[in-house]
Amino acid sequence: TSPFAPRHLLSIADLTPHELTTLIRTAATHKQSIKSGHVPPTLTNALLGQTIALLFTKRSTRTRVSTEAAVALLQGHPMFLGSQDIQLGVNESLHDTSVVISSMVSALVARVDAHEDVVGLAKHSSVPVINALSDAFHPLQTIADYLTIHEAFPSTSKESAASKSETSDGLGLEGLKIAWIGDANNVLFDLALGAAKLGVQLSVATPKGYEIPSHMRELITSASPTAFLTETNVPEEAVKDADILVTDTWISMGQESSKGQKMSDFAGFQITKELAQRGGAKQGWRFMHCLPRKPEEVSDEVFYSPASLVFQEAENRLWAALAVLEAFVVNKGKIV
Ligand code: CP
Ligand code: NVA
Repeated sequence: TSPFAPRHLLSIADLTPHELTTLIRTAATHKQSIKSGHVPPTLTNALLGQTIALLFTKRSTRTRVSTEAAVALLQGHPMFLGSQDIQLGVNESLHDTSVVISSMVSALVARVDAHEDVVGLAKHSSVPVINALSDAFHPLQTIADYLTIHEAFPSTSKESAASKSETSDGLGLEGLKIAWIGDANNVLFDLALGAAKLGVQLSVATPKGYEIPSHMRELITSASPTAFLTETNVPEEAVKDADILVTDTWISMGQESSKGQKMSDFAGFQITKELAQRGGAKQGWRFMHCLPRKPEEVSDEVFYSPASLVFQEAENRLWAALAVLEAFVVNKGKIV
């Protein structure tokens, strides 16, 4: 790679623990100042006159809206390119598309199907590529998720920050336990890499036959020097002592044909109050979901309860997108 090669964000694996922590902190700080009416001077006009291409081959509400809104906050121009709009996939290769688009814009935010497609885009792009969800990873979601956890568990943060050395720059999330109940998918894989880097315990319950693929498990566990991941096929086991219960749709985009089979294989995996009680989740447990949500993976009672963080989590996508655009586009990949 040349010294001028752009830095991409394709998964949380691309970030050091310090960089991930810094992005989350920056997102939190920007959220606070902008919501109180003060745009930090470093952000004013930061992308003035620059175009950010949003290349999406799948539907999106949060990722599209948060990215477009974050680009607007920086005075840039978000250019949405859906699969019906451009030649990619019909008349033009990924290679040519990437070379051409990147010659005219400052960054590419790409939602594709196969992860290797976003890797291919990055390989041939002369500007930063941000993964906006592939079949393997969803880094923007993970940053928003840990920002949400940081906000929801402030006392934990303070206690452990105080008990740790002055030099520690952590968010103080160490010791928290996340229980993921459901499908082992793209959202989980980056959440797990984040857990590895932030010292969070993660317990994953999937039905038999839907476990984390072994190459992915290797990548995830190699991201932490200490053991932090446990896996089970029994939801109650994962829920035990969990601070946060998390799930996602059982049928990710592109897997629609497996719906019938999955609906029966995932019986008993719906997150409900009873499951939390039976499994022994911690007092004051919270619920998270990246959205969009289907009723089968979580009951209305939990989803719309005061324990649910889902709408705060969705809003935090904006602040995560802002921090990532600032770091990767404005500051050219320097995360400070
Ligand atoms: N959570 C998430 O990425 O939502 P969208 O698919 O609506 O962007
Ligand atoms: N796992 C889901 C996440 C959507 C934001 C999917 O890939 O469709």
